[in-house]
Amino acid sequence: MNTREHMIHMAKVVMLNAYSPYSNFQVGACLRTSNDEYFIGCNIENVSYGLTLCAEASAIANLISAGNRRIVEIAVACSSSTFCSPCGACRQRLSEFASPDTLVHMANVDGEHQTVLLGDLLPQPFSQQHLGEN
Ligand code: THU
Repeated sequence: MNTREHMIHMAKVVMLNAYSPYSNFQVGACLRTSNDEYFIGCNIENVSYGLTLCAEASAIANLISAGNRRIVEIAVACSSSTFCSPCGACRQRLSEFASPDTLVHMANVDGEHQTVLLGDLLPQPFSQQHLGEN
């Protein structure tokens, strides 16, 4: 199993733990750090819908809580045939700790995947440079 396959596998395994009784849509994410460590997360919904935590945000929380800061590769798996492209908010969350050239692997339930660059998903992210211009 190569790194991409391993990450997609981990994303699919954690996806099974998703708490998504309202959408019935399961998402799993796996993040690889610069130390070659892997952090996973799934979506966690709430009866107050707006409080829902995306799988990517949940994986970032695990990665940061363990003392890491740098994401070098991302995998997202979901419970549909359509590839789960990270939502807009999660693209911004990921861009805080990753780079425009970070690979994002998206996997579906049919065993297929598609790989894109984070910079293609979120061109011109809001960044620390903008704050520095004040
Ligand atoms: N979801 C994620 O976990 N990640 C995304 O990037 C898109 C959406 C979840 C949130 C919610 O639990 C379900 O998918 C339907 O929106």
